[in-house]
Amino acid sequence: MTSELIKIAPSILAADFGRLGEQVARAQEAGADLIHIDIMDGRFVPNITMGPMVVEAVAKVATIPLDVHLMIVEPDRFLRRFADSGANSITVHVEACTHLHRVLGQIDAAGCRAGVALNPHSPASALGEVLDCVEIINVMTVNPGFGGQSFISGMTRKLRTLRAMVEDSGKDIEIEVDGGINVDTISIAIAAGATIAIAGTCVFQHEQGIAAGIEELRRAAALADADGES
Ligand code: DX5
Ligand code: ZN
Repeated sequence: MTSELIKIAPSILAADFGRLGEQVARAQEAGADLIHIDIMDGRFVPNITMGPMVVEAVAKVATIPLDVHLMIVEPDRFLRRFADSGANSITVHVEACTHLHRVLGQIDAAGCRAGVALNPHSPASALGEVLDCVEIINVMTVNPGFGGQSFISGMTRKLRTLRAMVEDSGKDIEIEVDGGINVDTISIAIAAGATIAIAGTCVFQHEQGIAAGIEELRRAAALADADGES
């Protein structure tokens, strides 16, 4: 994976919600490829964040795709709402879906790209039978629920396994890495096969601002490529 192909997806979880529209616009101007929106219900994860109204508000400002990550139980109950609110892709958790195959079909039927996320404890093999219905795989590199946590380095093995599975499948499936991404960990994630880097804290809470945060990640990704080639 080369850095030109790596997509940067800022997660608004770390944004200033009092100035959300402005912050999304700034991330976009700075070259973000997607806007990642973390939906939490206080049941699947021990935190509550936002719902379809916020997705709708972001959709009014954004011209880049909205990547909606559902950390909720029974996600099938809300797919249509999120699709109607402006989501371009909807990711559900494998651990939250008894009938994952059906739910992925419902996301597709709602007109969105179907994504599936794996908690740190879930193996790559959990996706073996659904690769045909998936366009995005989200590899959680923290336990979901909060921004600002540390990257679990043991997840690189799973990233590599998934990269090999995707290549074997011959399908154009993107692999997201989500949690603890910064200038040090982005290169590790790229080397292991990630194609989309989701980053909250190091973009929206960067001391020099959002554009500097994105620029630093891009630079780190480019260096990772140079190292890989040498
Ligand atoms: C965690 C969320 C992540 C989070 C990443 O549950 O899924 O998307 O916003 O935040 P940072 O980059 O701060 O780890
Ligand atoms: Zn997320």
